[in-house]
Amino acid sequence: MFKVNEDYLKLPGSYLFSTIAKKVSAFTEANPDKKIIRLGIGDVTQPLCPAVINALHSAVDEMASADTFKGYAPDLGYEFLRETIRDKVFKPLGAQVEADEIFISDGAKSDSGNIQEIFSRDTKVAVCDPVYPVYVDTNVMGGRTGTYDAATGLWSNVIYMPCTADNDFVASLPTEVPDLIYLCFPNNPTGASITKARLQEWVDYANEHKAVIVYDAAYEAYISEEGVPHSIYECEGARTCAIEIRSFSKNAGFTGTRLGYTVVPKEIKTDDGVMLRDLWARRHGTKFNGAPYIIQKAGEAVFSEEGQKQTGEQIAYYMKNAAYIKNGLAEAGYSVYGGVNAPYIWLKTPDNMTSWEFFDFLLENANVVGTPGSGFGPSGEGYFRLTAFGSYENTVEAINRIKAL
Ligand code: MLT
Repeated sequence: MFKVNEDYLKLPGSYLFSTIAKKVSAFTEANPDKKIIRLGIGDVTQPLCPAVINALHSAVDEMASADTFKGYAPDLGYEFLRETIRDKVFKPLGAQVEADEIFISDGAKSDSGNIQEIFSRDTKVAVCDPVYPVYVDTNVMGGRTGTYDAATGLWSNVIYMPCTADNDFVASLPTEVPDLIYLCFPNNPTGASITKARLQEWVDYANEHKAVIVYDAAYEAYISEEGVPHSIYECEGARTCAIEIRSFSKNAGFTGTRLGYTVVPKEIKTDDGVMLRDLWARRHGTKFNGAPYIIQKAGEAVFSEEGQKQTGEQIAYYMKNAAYIKNGLAEAGYSVYGGVNAPYIWLKTPDNMTSWEFFDFLLENANVVGTPGSGFGPSGEGYFRLTAFGSYENTVEAINRIKAL
C-alpha cells in the first residue's frame, strides 16, 4: 500500500484563499441577487497593457513559422530577458546582479514556495507574523516546522517575528538565531515598507550569523516614498546572504500570464564552497522546462519605454484605489495602515471583532470580500486586509457601502 508524505498531513485546513473562495461561493449561491465586490485575493483587474499585448502577438506569430518557431525554453530563462532584467531593473539601482544569477520562472509564488527545497531539513526558519502563507506552508511540506498548536496557530520549530502597530509592522531582529529568514517588503499582507537603513540591519545580521534572507520584492513597483529600497541588493553585503524573488504579476498584470524570477548571487556559499546558485540551477534543470517564449517576450516588453509608461499608469490607477480605501476608512473611524508603498490596506477590525467575524460581517452586510488578518498568522488576529487591485468603480462602491454600515 502506498504511503503519503506525512508532512502534508500536518497542514491545517485548506490554503487561505481557497477557504475564502469556498465561503464566498456559498454566500453567492444563497444570495444570487447580491452584487459581491471582491477585494480579497490580490488579483489584478486591469487588462495587460498594449506594449505587452503587441509583444505577445509578435511572439505568437514567430511560433507559426518554421524559421522562428521555439521549442523548449532554456530552463533558466532566455538570455534576452535575463540581460534586460540585469540592465533595466538592477543597474539603475546601482545593484550588482549578473544575468547568470537571474532565474526566470512561472511566478513568485512557485519560487517562494520552492526555494526551501535547497535547504536542509533541519534549517531553522524565521518568518514575520503575519506572513504570506506560502512561506510557512511549504516549510511544513519540507518537514522542518515541528508540531502545530491549533490554540495559538504557531508551529513549534518556526521563529515568529510579530509585526503589529506597535513596531510599525516591521519585525525586530530575532533573539533566537535562524538559518533562513523570510522578509517581504513592501509587505503582504500589512502594506508596510522598510527603510534602507533598517534593511541594512537585517543584511548585517544575516551575514554575521551566516543566515540566508529570502527577500520577496513582488510589490516593489508600488513604492512611492524616497528612502524605501526597491531591492535588497541596494544594501551593502546583500550578495553574500540574500536571495531576491520578483514577480511580473503585480507590476505588469501577469497574474494570469505567469512570469517571475529569482536572483541567487554566486557569493552565497556554504563553508565548503557549495553555491546556492548552483543548487537552484540544478533544481530548475530537473523540475522546470522554462517559462514559455511568448510570455518571456511579453515580460521583456514591460521594460520597453512604452511598457514602463503603460505599466506605470496601471500602478497609479491601483494606488488611487489604495488612497480611496485608506482615506475613506480613516474618515469612517477605522485604524488603517499600508496603502502608501503597497497595494494593500491593513485595518484594525472594529468593536473587537475577530478577523473572521469581520469577514462574515462585511460579506453579509456590505457584500464586500476581504481577507481576514488571522489567516496570515496569529499576529494578524483582529486585523483585516483589503486590496487596491479592484476596479476604481467597485472600490468606491465597496468603501461607500462599508462607510454606510
Ligand atoms: C495575495 O492575495 O496575497 C496574493 O495575491 C497571493 C499571491 O500573490 O499569490
